[in-house]
Amino acid sequence: MVSAAPFVPANLPLPDLYARVSHHIPPMEWPILAGDIEAILALKRDHNAVILAHNYQTPEIFHTVADIVGDSLALAREAAATDADIIVVAGVHFMAETAKLLNPNKTVLIPDSAAGCSLAESITAEDVRQLRARHPGVPVVTYVNTSAAVKAESDVCCTSGNAKKVIESLGVPRVIMLPDEFLAQNTAAQVPGIEIITWAGHCEVHELFTADDIRSVRESYPGVVVLAHPEAPPEVVAEADFAGSTAGMVDFVGEKRPARVALVTECSMSDNVAVQYPEVEFVRPCNLCPHMKQITLPKIRRALEQRQYEVTIDPALAERARVAVERMLAVR
Ligand code: 13P
Ligand code: SF4
Repeated sequence: MVSAAPFVPANLPLPDLYARVSHHIPPMEWPILAGDIEAILALKRDHNAVILAHNYQTPEIFHTVADIVGDSLALAREAAATDADIIVVAGVHFMAETAKLLNPNKTVLIPDSAAGCSLAESITAEDVRQLRARHPGVPVVTYVNTSAAVKAESDVCCTSGNAKKVIESLGVPRVIMLPDEFLAQNTAAQVPGIEIITWAGHCEVHELFTADDIRSVRESYPGVVVLAHPEAPPEVVAEADFAGSTAGMVDFVGEKRPARVALVTECSMSDNVAVQYPEVEFVRPCNLCPHMKQITLPKIRRALEQRQYEVTIDPALAERARVAVERMLAVR
């Protein structure tokens, strides 16, 4: 369990920031990180830049340099609202593309252009055109974890935080939902009466969890409350006490304050939420997302110093993709 009052040794730089991450970072490593953090904070001020960080970013990013943190939906909403000149996305490429779609005249940077996503890789624009041809007139609901080219072929986007609402908002008996098969199956269970045509894309992090994993966590940690992400297979979601987006999990912990909780998702989630709720014991059956972990403090610093890597999208394609994202944001 995380202790409530972290010990901060004397003479460490940026002691207030260190106190937030002292449970994860040994004091001897801090001065090196603090150098990058100080530089990033100054660069943000000098260039009117903002850092959007996903819940899967490491604590030293999430709790020190990020201006806005959250799930994919919150980051999209905040990207639409910011008045910064430069947006740095500490997350994966599709998140940076979404920010660019909503801010065509701003500079959007991703600190490592190789930070991809197995879901985004699982489908192309041509695949969507073929699906449409096979199911004429059936609307296409596309998870934001996709390229701008795939979004451009879609009617509306969704995230794991609003999939049910987006589908219900269409008022039709059949939808195509891409590309996450498990999210589609888990959402289908919440919208009886609506047929959902799926695609066989998977998140390489969440597809690894099994119902047995959850049963063994319950055996080893009596009383544990298990939260799963809807990108996990339906049998995993069925074993969990709650399934929701990463923000849904954070809210659940904040509202219910379980004594012991397992966030069956990416590893940094527990690290980040534990800082906020030191009285909660976090059990960690987690997997790392290799794409999210491409983003580091030195790369964020370099992104701001060298304006790299700038996200660009063909304007005609962006125009069509933006419609699908804006339709999603209009669903409340
Ligand atoms: P959330 O929208 O729930 O944050 O999920 C994004 C993601 O990539 C999960 O794997
Ligand atoms: Fe993609 Fe899964 Fe990584 Fe999220 S956790 S970015 S869905 S591979």
